[in-house]
Amino acid sequence: MKKKEEKTYNLSEEIRRIKSEKNALILAHYYQTGDIQDIADYLGDSLGLSQKAAANDADIILFAGVKFMAETAKILSPDKKVLIPDPNAGCSLADSCDEKDFEEFIKKHPGRTVITYVNTNIGVKALSDIICTSSNALKIIESLPENEKIIFAPDRNLGNYLLNLTGRDIVIWDGACHVHEEFSLERILELKAQNPDAKIIVHPECERPVRMIADYIGSTTALLNYTKKDNSKSYIIATEPGIIHQMKKANPDKVFIPAPPRDSTCGCSECNFMKLITLEKIYNCLVNESPEIIIEKELLDRARKPILRMMEISEKYGI
Ligand code: 13P
Ligand code: SF4
Repeated sequence: MKKKEEKTYNLSEEIRRIKSEKNALILAHYYQTGDIQDIADYLGDSLGLSQKAAANDADIILFAGVKFMAETAKILSPDKKVLIPDPNAGCSLADSCDEKDFEEFIKKHPGRTVITYVNTNIGVKALSDIICTSSNALKIIESLPENEKIIFAPDRNLGNYLLNLTGRDIVIWDGACHVHEEFSLERILELKAQNPDAKIIVHPECERPVRMIADYIGSTTALLNYTKKDNSKSYIIATEPGIIHQMKKANPDKVFIPAPPRDSTCGCSECNFMKLITLEKIYNCLVNESPEIIIEKELLDRARKPILRMMEISEKYGI
């Protein structure tokens, strides 16, 4: 154990040294492991990470997250070198929306504004009118005229959540995230029975029955902030458990219980794509400046427009 700690420490120190030598910025999502969160220059949810990727003085951005996030950083900072430590870090939600099928879907529902969750591949973004994240999706829909018809993609659970909140005319693409859809309502209720004072806090990518029993629903940053402001002593967390690292740091005296998935052979709900990134891969990626995100300019330009619309609306509402 001591050896592993020493190795992690040395690797972290080396990463810090090389990134300052190369003027590189490490952006990490909350679903990364704790050791990676601890060496990040900026840690955040999808919206915060996009905002940071758009405004920084680094020469290199290393993205400790999944591919659609690194692509978004490249779209927003096309002149910078954007690195991803493992290009196989995909996303089941992004892959549930194929570009060609989505193009057909849009044609089948003409005259609708296409609002697409940031968890999509770049070709799908390029077909969209406005991108959103779980932090700003509600405000983005509310910013449109009430009679505006909408297509929402690709997450059916977030789409359903937004439809219920706004009552707007929304056609929803039938996609989902394999992590958030797998939480077991029964097992969460069992945990609640064992911990009656625990608050159930839930990401909107979860299915409706899980959202229905939530004390609070929000993006990863919103969930983290909730645990800071709320005065309960314990929480059942229905999102990827990586976020618990920050919740514990911010609230050392509180108890955080990860919500279990349906499949009882595995007690955890980790995103296997997020967890492909390791300190070793980050180190090698920084040293070799590879793998790099390379995308043709024309596609970058098309995908940038709907992201900039998101940024404008977010800025307007102070999100
Ligand atoms: P947020 O970080 O925007 O809450 O999204 C969660 C997620 O699933 C990222 O992959
Ligand atoms: Fe994609 Fe789900 Fe993993 Fe997020 S948690 S990266 S939505 S598969």
